[in-house]
Amino acid sequence: SRSDFVRIVEVGPRDGLQNEKQTIPLATKIELVDRLAQTGLETIEAASFVSPKWVPQMASSSEVLEHVLNSLPTAPHPMTYQFLLPNEKGLDNFLNIWQRDSSPQTAYPTPPPSPSPDSGPALNTSSQDPNAMPSASSGADAMHKANSNTPTPKIELSIFTAATETFTRKNTNCTISESLSRSSPIMSRARALDLPVRAYISVALGCPYEGPNVDPHRVAELAVSLLEMGADEISVADTTGMGTARSTAELLKVLTAAGIENADLALHFHDTYGQALVNAVVALEHGIRTFDSAVAGLGGCPFSPGATGNVATEDMVHCFHSLGARTGVDMERLAQVGEWISEELGRANESRAGKATLAQ
Ligand code: HMG
Ligand code: MG
Repeated sequence: SRSDFVRIVEVGPRDGLQNEKQTIPLATKIELVDRLAQTGLETIEAASFVSPKWVPQMASSSEVLEHVLNSLPTAPHPMTYQFLLPNEKGLDNFLNIWQRDSSPQTAYPTPPPSPSPDSGPALNTSSQDPNAMPSASSGADAMHKANSNTPTPKIELSIFTAATETFTRKNTNCTISESLSRSSPIMSRARALDLPVRAYISVALGCPYEGPNVDPHRVAELAVSLLEMGADEISVADTTGMGTARSTAELLKVLTAAGIENADLALHFHDTYGQALVNAVVALEHGIRTFDSAVAGLGGCPFSPGATGNVATEDMVHCFHSLGARTGVDMERLAQVGEWISEELGRANESRAGKATLAQ
């Protein structure tokens, strides 16, 4: 049974890098994604298609997508890569690459799934030209890939809204209701292309502008709306790290009472107050089996002042393994990636378990 399996969504390459001030070379971003894929992690949020004016660090996300679509797999198991986007402009930019590079004539032995009949709004077909040239970077790898019959990585999208009006305005320059209206066409277009969508609800356990007492019923309402809209998973995010064991338990109780199944939920903890692991264990005991984290505890949202990184993947893996859960992750390899990226970024490795593992 997989009931003791905990799925970890590694958000380091997106949440982890978006807040770094110095420009990170594309090669480093790509190397991080590839190294993470060799640790046993199966799902990696690789980049985001957001406005480069708002988040300059994510400006080279097209290249990261090109890379995961066109290079030989680095993992011995199938990988899922997620890409975050805030609006249809982000989806168009994503599709410009995805529709070109994941089409069967450029690379893949298995044809992409055909659109469902209820296709929703018009699709961006500009890049579906069958005569389109494969990109220079894709050529050799793509040929090799087709010949060796290697599997296509699974690609998923993530979108985001938030539980308070102020945070939504600061993060996406719109109201909560407008952010839901933006999400709806993204979801119908994604569904027509058979791309799964996860939806984040930020500031679910505390807001940098409105304080720690975010109404859990507001979070539940949003989660229900997003699921009804077609979201495949809701990632409930403690953006500020203000969540506690008690408020986490209370929020989960309210979500369950609203009819939301644990299988539709992920929890996304930032560790600003050092409570992320405690909160994760509370969620695990409630029956949650998907958790987001970032290697070396990288991360933070540029629009959440004072908030620090995500819970470190190494710490979460260590904790879950100690409780008898399986993650598929090789702790030693993961710890090495955490040490490597911390050195690359010139920042301290925030993972206690990672450092301890390497010191052994
Ligand atoms: P806006 O300024 O209102 O947008 O920003 P706009 O539609 O007026 O466009 C302004 C300019 O940006 C235009 O360019 C657009 O073309 C361009 P100009 O005409 O001035 O040259 N633009 C884009 N370019 C590339 N990609 C796009 C895009 N959209 C517009 N997708 C907007 C609204 C939503 C775009 C902006 O606020 C934005 O990009 N926000 C994203 C902020 C962000 O990335 N935050 C961090 C991720 S969320 C997070 O970290 C939380 C999470 O980890 C969970 C948690 O912990 O809570 C997920
Ligand atoms: Mg986050």
